[in-house]
Amino acid sequence: MSQEALDSLNKFITDLKQTPQSLKERGKQPTPFDYEIRISTANYIPDLGPLVMRGKFSPLGYPVIYGAPDQKLMVACFGNPKFGCIQDPYYFSLKSFVKFLKGSEVEADTSNSVEMDPAPPWFWNNWKNGGYEQVYRDKIYPAVLKTINQRDREIPPGPTVDLFGGDGEFVEMLYKATLLGSERYYILDNHQPSLDKARQRANVSNTDTIVVCSKNLAEDATIFEDITQPSVVTAIGGLCASIVDRAQARKIASQVYNALQDRGLFVVTGFTPVVLNAADFSEIGFKVEQMSVPENAISFKRPDQLYVLRK
Ligand SMILES: C[S@@+](CC[C@H](N)C(=O)[O-])C[C@H]1O[C@@H](n2cnc3c(N)ncnc32)[C@H](O)[C@@H]1O
Repeated sequence: MSQEALDSLNKFITDLKQTPQSLKERGKQPTPFDYEIRISTANYIPDLGPLVMRGKFSPLGYPVIYGAPDQKLMVACFGNPKFGCIQDPYYFSLKSFVKFLKGSEVEADTSNSVEMDPAPPWFWNNWKNGGYEQVYRDKIYPAVLKTINQRDREIPPGPTVDLFGGDGEFVEMLYKATLLGSERYYILDNHQPSLDKARQRANVSNTDTIVVCSKNLAEDATIFEDITQPSVVTAIGGLCASIVDRAQARKIASQVYNALQDRGLFVVTGFTPVVLNAADFSEIGFKVEQMSVPENAISFKRPDQLYVLRK
């Protein structure tokens, strides 16, 4: 561990020891929660046990955060944004400590967040003019590209499938980056105008390597019937609130697991909360290599959730 990391850890431990009793008391409130940040500190502070921070997205937009009564750390604070709880004495030291942890040691788990109705099809007509698109372009796509790039050598050859692939922007990026040298890329979505754009992009790339297919992924039990043994599957803004519910997400993830080659990769991320968590993916059979981007987990920055799953 670097000196900077050690200093941040020591500062965090000192702050912890000074926990005001009032915060501990507030942490005991048994309130339902929307999200949970689980931090494994076992490698750093063996006697602390797992650290859990829970919070709720209030209808007014500001979150209420409180600790789990059964955990040693109890935090209750009120603030905006997600963990921008300046009243919380740990906020800054916890945040600086967490950024030194690995993506496999921090989980921003939002599988408990309130189920949202799926966005109506017209919403996808021009969602890329609403501001989200820049976060996808500048932060989310590069994070997925980096993830794939880092594991390039361990990925078996085979097709790549982008579920909920929309207008094909991510696949175009991946194709141009030629990281995988995949023989074929599939874009699956059910929004016709987006699929038309994806086909245009594929033509501009002057290739029949990119195949665009219409599929209702929430309902279809045969997502991979025409695709032989993919080696990489991505779901970027797909297994997320306002797209699918948990039952649908589970069925999709199981189909991905069954279709993938051994050692194949499934990468799940997005802007709205991911509706499955690491325990769900493990139950299906995946080995969870990464759960989050720790420096974003305690903030509104994206991507905060980045599940890297291996068959
Ligand atoms: C947040 S966007 C992400 C799109 C794409 N990954 C991107 O980065 O441009 C969600 C996508 O899910 C698609 N979608 C929503 N419900 C779907 C369903 N039941 N079946 C297939 N696609 C769906 C939408 O058409 C939209 O393209």
